Amino acid sequence: MTYSLPYKRVLLKLSGEALMGDKNYGISPDTVAYMAQEIKNVHDLNIELAIVIGGGNIFRGVEASVKGMERASADYMGMLATTINALALQNSLERLNLQTRVQSAIEMKELAETYIRRKAIRHLEKGRIVIFAAGTGNPYFTTDTAAALRAIEIGAQVILKGTKVDGIYSSDPIKNKDAVKYQNISYIDIIKKGLKVMDTTAITLCMENNLPIIVFNIREPNSIRNILIGKEVGTKVTNNIN
Ligand code: GTP
Repeated sequence: MTYSLPYKRVLLKLSGEALMGDKNYGISPDTVAYMAQEIKNVHDLNIELAIVIGGGNIFRGVEASVKGMERASADYMGMLATTINALALQNSLERLNLQTRVQSAIEMKELAETYIRRKAIRHLEKGRIVIFAAGTGNPYFTTDTAAALRAIEIGAQVILKGTKVDGIYSSDPIKNKDAVKYQNISYIDIIKKGLKVMDTTAITLCMENNLPIIVFNIREPNSIRNILIGKEVGTKVTNNIN
């Protein structure tokens, strides 16, 4: 079956927690295998796929800094956590015979390539899945901001942000059963309403570069593929929602 695919190059943002499964810490091998299969289903559509992964399943820089650790040190620890996750995901993808490259924003030559924008683009053109590790390489920036930055740098046409809920709601749908889901919302409304989708730096970068974000439930099987074959899944964030 042929589809008219709305996006050719995509950046998928996964939180570190997406690898945890039912555990409350670390990496669940079954869950990483599930993610890898979901990613393969998309790659099979001949879509170029880059991935930014968080590290919150291992270490949260912001939380540690609240408890007194110096913020920069805590953030560097978080960046190392993202690298552990990147290697776990790479391994699972390779077990499905996918070609992958991990590029790190912090040089760690023995275990990953260093981030080079033009090289990342060449890898994508050759059908390799590129996993970006170590965030932006700078403290004080989240991995959501890294996702926005990398997506813009490599010319991705959309960011797919996998979360625990199936879109953006007027308030936290887990705590408030009256929360209403948005089909579409503008970047500026997210900022004005203080919705916790991505941090403001990430949202602003997307807004200024007209990069759409689709927020969806990563635990819902086939959701990434459904988005990429043009089905309405989750919430879409753009400049113009009319
Ligand atoms: P092309 O030859 O351009 O198609 O890309 P390639 O990635 O296959 O070429 P390269 O010779 O750069 O890489 C061969 C293998 O070495 C790949 O698996 C890369 O991920 C890996 N590699 C390249 N540079 C580094 C590095 O600095 N550190 C580590 N750990 N691996 C690297």
